[in-house]
Amino acid sequence: MSILDTIRARRSVRTFDGADLRAGDIEKIEECAKSASNPYSIPIEWRILSAGDGLSSPVIVGAQRFIAGKMRRTEHAEEAFGYSFEKIVLLCEELGVGTTIIAGTMDRGAFERAMGLESGEVMPCMSPLGYPAKKMSIREGMMRAGIKADTRLSFGEIFFDGAFDKPLADGGAISDALEAVRLAPSAVNKQPWRVVIEENAAHFYIKHARGYGAGTGWDMQKIDLGIALCHFELAMREMGFEPRFELGEPGVSAPEGVDYIASFRW
Ligand SMILES: Cc1cc2nc3c(=O)[nH]c(=O)nc-3n(C[C@H](O)[C@H](O)[C@H](O)COP(=O)(O)O)c2cc1C
Repeated sequence: MSILDTIRARRSVRTFDGADLRAGDIEKIEECAKSASNPYSIPIEWRILSAGDGLSSPVIVGAQRFIAGKMRRTEHAEEAFGYSFEKIVLLCEELGVGTTIIAGTMDRGAFERAMGLESGEVMPCMSPLGYPAKKMSIREGMMRAGIKADTRLSFGEIFFDGAFDKPLADGGAISDALEAVRLAPSAVNKQPWRVVIEENAAHFYIKHARGYGAGTGWDMQKIDLGIALCHFELAMREMGFEPRFELGEPGVSAPEGVDYIASFRW
């Protein structure tokens, strides 16, 4: 399956069939987690945990396993975490293993204990791992409808042609990579990514939503940006481009509440 097909097929899964993960799948997920690097070169320790002892989520039904990651709380930790987690999520999708990145709806203390969280470390999110049930629970259906999980902002609302006042009309040769960004999952489906396209460059920005930690030194929405960067880079590579990751304000004037995150050049 191409990466774009995998990205198109993925959706958050909250209702599982109750079966444990097959040993072969656990092995592949562990292998992927070990090598799931990120452009910030920030190390993340991943563990696959068995359900029980508070390791559950009020929105998840029938999952026997969870995966969680922990890391030092450093600059760019959020983007790095989102980027690496999404590599694992996409591998799971290829294996037929369902996931939902979860930052809020969990017993955080139980997961932090299971991860052996130490001072200075953070466990931003976890995900259930399992095989999707044939039918989603009523609660899952209601939740998806409530956050409009099947919709995304339109192309012209998130991609810009050199400046934020000029919506991008056409993605040209990189259209598919931009579509991979547009389809990415995000917390409460807020889709905070905004991307300014210049010749052979894409500059990623975050449009902060109120109440998601902007200004607290820890911004959950930057995890969404990490996921978007991951989708873009993987799609570009598959399309034959060689995107180089860069951190450096491109000098584009950004609207109030919109901040620069990172760029790719090719
Ligand atoms: C950083 C992040 C945090 C999330 N936290 C939760 C959560 O706490 N509970 C939950 O049910 N879903 C959570 N989600 C899943 C989103 O609600 C979901 O990705 C979004 O609604 C789009 O739906 P889709 O993944 O099916 O495309 C989270 C997703 C991300 C990326």
